[in-house]
Amino acid sequence: MTTTTDLPRVYFNPSPPDMLTTTLDDRILAFHEGLPGYAPTRLVHAPHLAAALGVRDVWVKDESSRLGLPAYKILGAAWAVYRELETRYGNPEGWTQLDEFATQLQAHTPLTLVAATDGNHGRAVARVARLLGLNARILVPQDMVRARIDAIASEGARVTVVRGTYDDTVEAAARLADERHLVISDTAWDGYTRVPGWVVEGYSTIFREIDAQLALQGGRAPDVVAAQMGVGSLAMAVVQHYRAPGSDTHVVGVEPTGADCVLRSLEAGTLTEAPGPHRSIMAGLNCGNTSPLAWPLLRTGLSASVAIPDARAQEVMRLLAKDGVTSGESGAAGAGGLLELLAGTFAEEARARLGVTEDSTVLVISTEGATDPDAYTRIVPGEG
Ligand SMILES: Cc1ncc(COP(=O)(O)O)c(C=O)c1O
Repeated sequence: MTTTTDLPRVYFNPSPPDMLTTTLDDRILAFHEGLPGYAPTRLVHAPHLAAALGVRDVWVKDESSRLGLPAYKILGAAWAVYRELETRYGNPEGWTQLDEFATQLQAHTPLTLVAATDGNHGRAVARVARLLGLNARILVPQDMVRARIDAIASEGARVTVVRGTYDDTVEAAARLADERHLVISDTAWDGYTRVPGWVVEGYSTIFREIDAQLALQGGRAPDVVAAQMGVGSLAMAVVQHYRAPGSDTHVVGVEPTGADCVLRSLEAGTLTEAPGPHRSIMAGLNCGNTSPLAWPLLRTGLSASVAIPDARAQEVMRLLAKDGVTSGESGAAGAGGLLELLAGTFAEEARARLGVTEDSTVLVISTEGATDPDAYTRIVPGEG
């Protein structure tokens, strides 16, 4: 039964997770490589976290600086905007680089990119709009902290605070769609899946980079990967990569206890809302509804899903700092989930089910840096 307690909760997939074959557009990585300031983000070896998890190796993909922004989200936003514009207006010159594409788009302006956000996706859409010479209108929930609102506004976007939850902002953004307002959402709804599909595709660059970095550093493929989940789009990308034929990596989903829509859906066997208000400090994960595009893959591709209290995220932010990674609250959530699962309340059962031993290799994605700098210095004193 689902309760509103702050205690950690877990769901284990009763069936072995599915293998999936996904065909990716092979232009994605090349497109990202062509963006101004592109460089692969760091893959960090994390011995403190490994000791805490009771495994041999932990790798942390550090997304605290991605294309000039403090989160991974611009990978999805840039690719989705590019593909949507290309689909709507064509790309007769065959441009693949944003600045060249921007010139061609002038014939179609004024155009406004619209997005609902818990913070990072909206800022990323606003940045892409700026790079393309387009307007941005970003809708945020009423409880977003000032630092995140200011960061979005600093990209030149018009920011609208919606009275309500993140899910209310998604509905409000969808209502703004028209000829001159392109909604760039990282979650899907009935009749709207094309753009979020491209957002998920865009995240694949993270895993292409990790594969190359592990090969270079002589690291083993991970036995377990954790994916923190808001609407589940990032986790969908993780499942697509690590549940592909030839990979037997387990994927574990992680949410805050107060916004556990995927966990509730897994328990119910059908999409189920986590009613608001969602007050976790893991702000990017404060979502009441799972993306219906991600849901089928999460249902069959996750080996387990865990909901963690804020205290776990804070604990693991401090651990990651010891390993040299600045990780915000949502950024650290994946590692926090693994701490709960492999070394906390559920350790015995989880280690047995996932086959985790002291010799295992684990991968986490630190999906953001200190996106709320004041909170970061309170949680990780002496850093930030
Ligand atoms: C830092 C960070 N990590 C993870 C997520 C979760 O991504 P998704 O909503 O695709 O599940 C978000 C979403 O906003 C985020 O901002």
